[in-house]
Amino acid sequence: MVDNNHKDQRPLSYDKSSKPIFSFYLSSSSPCSFTAIIILLIFFSYFLYSFSFITFLHPYSPSRISNSLLVPVMRLGSSQQPDEKTELKHIVFGIAASSSLWKHRSQYVKTWWRPNGEMKGFVWLDKPVNDTVSFSSDLPEIKISSDTSSFKYRYRSGHRSAIRITRIVSETVRMLNGTEYEKHVRWIVMGDDDTVFFPENLLRVLRKYDHKQFYYIGAPSESHLQNLHQFSYGMAYGGGGFAISYPLAKALEKIQDRCIERYSDLYGSDDRIHACMAEIGVPLTKEAGFHQFDVYGNLLGLLSVHPQVPVVSIHHLDVVEPIFPRTDRVNAVKRLMIPAKLDSASLLQQSICYDKTRQWTMSISWGYTVHITRTYMPARMMEVPTRTFNDWHKRHDFTNVAFNTRPITYTDCQRPRVFCMSRALNDSSSGTTISEYLRHNEWNPKCEWGIQDPSDINRIFVYKKPNPDRWNKAPRRDCCRLLPTTKKGTMVINVTACEDDEIVAYSDKFIDFYDNHWIGPKCTIIRIVQREKSLVPSNRSTSAPVIGFAIEVSLNSEALILLVATSKAQPKL
Ligand SMILES: *[C@@H]1O[C@H](CO)[C@@H](O)[C@H](O)[C@H]1NC(C)=O
Ligand SMILES: *[C@@H]1O[C@H](CO)[C@@H](O)[C@H](O)[C@H]1NC(C)=O
Ligand SMILES: *[C@@H]1O[C@H](CO)[C@@H](O)[C@H](O)[C@H]1NC(C)=O
Ligand SMILES: *[C@@H]1O[C@H](CO)[C@@H](O)[C@H](O)[C@H]1NC(C)=O
Ligand SMILES: *[C@@H]1O[C@H](CO)[C@@H](O)[C@H](O)[C@H]1NC(C)=O
Repeated sequence: MVDNNHKDQRPLSYDKSSKPIFSFYLSSSSPCSFTAIIILLIFFSYFLYSFSFITFLHPYSPSRISNSLLVPVMRLGSSQQPDEKTELKHIVFGIAASSSLWKHRSQYVKTWWRPNGEMKGFVWLDKPVNDTVSFSSDLPEIKISSDTSSFKYRYRSGHRSAIRITRIVSETVRMLNGTEYEKHVRWIVMGDDDTVFFPENLLRVLRKYDHKQFYYIGAPSESHLQNLHQFSYGMAYGGGGFAISYPLAKALEKIQDRCIERYSDLYGSDDRIHACMAEIGVPLTKEAGFHQFDVYGNLLGLLSVHPQVPVVSIHHLDVVEPIFPRTDRVNAVKRLMIPAKLDSASLLQQSICYDKTRQWTMSISWGYTVHITRTYMPARMMEVPTRTFNDWHKRHDFTNVAFNTRPITYTDCQRPRVFCMSRALNDSSSGTTISEYLRHNEWNPKCEWGIQDPSDINRIFVYKKPNPDRWNKAPRRDCCRLLPTTKKGTMVINVTACEDDEIVAYSDKFIDFYDNHWIGPKCTIIRIVQREKSLVPSNRSTSAPVIGFAIEVSLNSEALILLVATSKAQPKL
């Protein structure tokens, strides 16, 4: 009861003029006040003694220690239970939509929305829609945004719906004001009608933060130019979705209408939020699981190498190709929701392993794809997304994305074979998920390497136990191992958490070759398999022209194909 006693002492340690007793003691020289202090101290000691005696005789809890820890927490005076985890019922979604697109876009919302009160939130439209399909019980309730014609909008080629959409936060706060539900709301989460959320992962991210404080959580764009010129690296992009803690949403509501008048020359709704956050002084808390996806083309490269954080959202699904081949966009999202239900925490999480008999590298994005590549590719390369997509300004320039990328392949022989998730189920007898991946790319370039063609595989099964707690620990990639199978054209892989000492390395021996120097054990070069400029991984910081070689070497009677780069004309053989 130490803490408790200190609190109880406090009123006693102040005299009527609210001066602490300590300063009173220092400033006093009269013997009379000295006696008073002695009496006070005796009284204190007695008080302390009797209080601890009472609590000793009447412990009102089996564990006095834990109780003394709990008391100050309870005193923070929240009506909510202090340690109740954030659940869906604590979130209010604000979905920015328009009457003209709602019929189509509502199909995306249906893929993640949990009806029957499991989720709380509203779709905000510019005007009522006359379409019975849209008023489905599988969808959030529709609200019509209030009139914004009195607000200025001066961005030249933009759309003034940005004002209506940015005010969803304020309108939500006003709507909840004074309601019974307001006591429960912790977060307002904004998204577009073409944003697909993974709700369990959204919860995993929000649970890391204290909703009673001011938080603005989201992610910038993938496009460096978008962040650099028009918007900001410090802005949460609206399509990727963002979360505002309720106290911050209330603070924003107070200023938002006047604030957005000061920024009438901005383009969007999300940069208006960012501008007002800057006025309040709250920075963006970046969470890499929110995905604006300001890209064109195919998300394959990005979704096959997701950062090691839970995937919270995907966006721009009408702009990019369907995320699974040979199906439409909405059905592709529905397919991704199957593994999302089985092991949401592990969705799109990568694991890398080698088939040492066939010299293949396997990269798994759980619930989405398996890539098989000829030769042993180092983990640091496999962690980098391939350029299956185009940048937002369609410039084919990969200095315009705000992260590392690599070409899909350096040579035809190393073009990966991609297998896409087709089915996933929960094997309740073993508590394991089984997901099936089918080969989809038929293109089969000529390759003269003496390494078996991964196109001989048609179907891959991946076993994996769900791991809902993975994000409560330090992040680490999963490990994968090949399981034996006699079935032709089939591969079976087991994905698990890595053992402490388990690593992804193709050999115990360290091999590197650069500028004619072998580092590591001596190996014999069998032949140069291929020699061309296209093999060069990237521009090296060397003035000499760089040439790439694929060479086959023999190391401890194992044949390996290695890619090497040299600034010399040809490696010494
Ligand atoms: C809605 O659609 C129905 C049938 O197409 C039509 O009869 C009705 O007038 C429409 N209502 C509005 C408000 O446009
Ligand atoms: C909430 O309701 C109270 C009482 O009606 C009112 O005084 C206050 O201004 C309202 N606040 C907001 C943000 O609407
Ligand atoms: C999978 O099966 C196990 C064992 O029966 C069960 O506990 C678990 O809830 C199931 N998971 C899902 C997502 O259905
Ligand atoms: C996968 O590996 C884990 C951990 O080693 C093991 O417990 C499990 O039985 C394996 N699954 C299969 C299908 O072999
Ligand atoms: C890489 O080198 C090529 C050829 O010298 C040059 O055209 C290109 O601009 C370089 N790219 C970068 C990103 O430096």
